[in-house]
Amino acid sequence: MKPFHRQSGSLMSDQVRCSDLAEEFGTPLYVYNRRAIEQAWQEFATALQDSSHLICYAVKANSNLAILDTLARLGSGFDIVSLGELKRVLAAGGKPEKIVFSGVGKNTREMAAALEAGIRCFNVESVSELERLAEVASAHGVTAPVSLRINPDVDAQTHPYISTGLKENKFGINMGDALQAYRRAQELSSIDVQGIDCHIGSQLTTLEPYADAVALLVGMIDTLSAEGIHLSHIDVGGGQGIRYSADDESLDVQAWARCVQSAIGERDLQILVEPGRYIVGQAGILMTRVEYLKSNEDRHFAVVDAAMNDLIRPALYSAWQEIEEVETLEREARVYDVVGPICESADFLGKQRTLSIAENDLLCVRSSGAYAFVMSSNYNTRPRAAEVMVEGEKFFLVRSREETEALFAQEFLLP
Ligand code: LLP
Repeated sequence: MKPFHRQSGSLMSDQVRCSDLAEEFGTPLYVYNRRAIEQAWQEFATALQDSSHLICYAVKANSNLAILDTLARLGSGFDIVSLGELKRVLAAGGKPEKIVFSGVGKNTREMAAALEAGIRCFNVESVSELERLAEVASAHGVTAPVSLRINPDVDAQTHPYISTGLKENKFGINMGDALQAYRRAQELSSIDVQGIDCHIGSQLTTLEPYADAVALLVGMIDTLSAEGIHLSHIDVGGGQGIRYSADDESLDVQAWARCVQSAIGERDLQILVEPGRYIVGQAGILMTRVEYLKSNEDRHFAVVDAAMNDLIRPALYSAWQEIEEVETLEREARVYDVVGPICESADFLGKQRTLSIAENDLLCVRSSGAYAFVMSSNYNTRPRAAEVMVEGEKFFLVRSREETEALFAQEFLLP
C-alpha cells in the first residue's frame, strides 16, 4: 500500500485521515509515514543482500529524531555532515561505528567530537583536510579512519545546484590528484586509510552516471592496490532519484545495485551507500490550509498558510511537487498559483495547478519527506511547522510547532 492513499475522497496515511491530523495539530504540518521509510530502506538492504554492505542514511535529507530512531532500529548507518547531525544520530540511538562523516568543511571541533565518538569513517575531501585531521587525531592519541572523496568529473544530469561530481564543483579530490593524496595519507601515522568515496549528485534517475563513477573509483582502487595501498570499502554516495511527477521515473534500486556490484566484480570490498531522498522523500507530505482565493485578469491565486520558509524547493530549484486536495469536495475546478504569505514573488509552492478548492480547505504537497522541513527557516519570523509520524492507526507528534516568542528569545535589546 502507498504511504498516502485515498479512501472515499479523503487523503489517508495508513488508517489515519490526514484532515484529522490538521485539525489536531494545525497547519502547516508535516506528516510522515513510518512504514514507507522502513520499506524504502529495506529496498536497499534487499538489493545489496549478497554483498557486504552498510546503508548510511544521509541525515541531511530529514534529521527528525523519530526518523533517525526508525532507521537506527533497522540497523542503519548514517552519513552526517556536521556536529549537529552527529549529536542527533547519537541521541536517536544510532551506532557510532556505523557513521560516516562527509562534507568539505569539517572543523577541528567536529573532527575531535567524531573521533571521540568513534565513528566509522571520515570522508575526506582535500589534502588540507587530511593534514588537519591527522593533527587532531594525533593530539587525541588516536588514529582516524579515512576514505578519500574523489571527484570523478561525471555529469549526473540533474539540477546544477544538486550536481556535485563535476570538476567545477567544490567537492572531493580530483581524479588526477587522488594517487598523491593517498600516498600522503599513507605517510601520516594517525591516519588509517580504509576507503574511497564519491557522491556525484542528487535526484539521479539514470544508472549511467553511477556506472561511470564507480568504474573510475574501481580503477583507482586497483592502482592503489598495485602500490600496496589496500582499501576495504567503496562508498558510492547517495543520489537515488524519486518520482515527483507522473513524468518522472524513480531510480530502480535493484538495477542500481547490480550496476554497482558488477563494476566491483570479485574485489573484496564492502559497499557503502548514502541514500537520503530515496528513503524519506515519498514518506512525507506538507499539509497547508487555504487562507484566501484571489484573482486578477491573468491568474487565480490560492494563498495558503505554508510558505517558502516551510518548503523552499520550488523557490530555490524550481522544483515541481504534486499539490492536491486533502478532502475531495464539490468545488469548481480552476487553475491556481499556490502561494504563501511571504513578501516575495519566489514564495510559491506550485504554479498553474488545477485544483477544486474553497477558502479554508486543506491542500497537501506530496513528496515532502526529504529536503523539506530540514531546509525550513524562520524567515518573516514564521514559526517552523509541527511534524507528525503515522504508523498504522496510530500517530505521534515528533516535533511541536515552534512558539513565536522562542524565535527571538535568544536576542537582546540594547542597554
Ligand atoms: N552523500 C552526500 C555526500 C551528499 O552530499 C548527499 C546530498 C547525499 C549523500 C544524499 O543524497 P540523496 O540520496 O538525498 O540525493 N536540497 C537538495 C538536495 C541536496 C543534496 C545534497 N547532498 C534538494 O532539495 O533537492
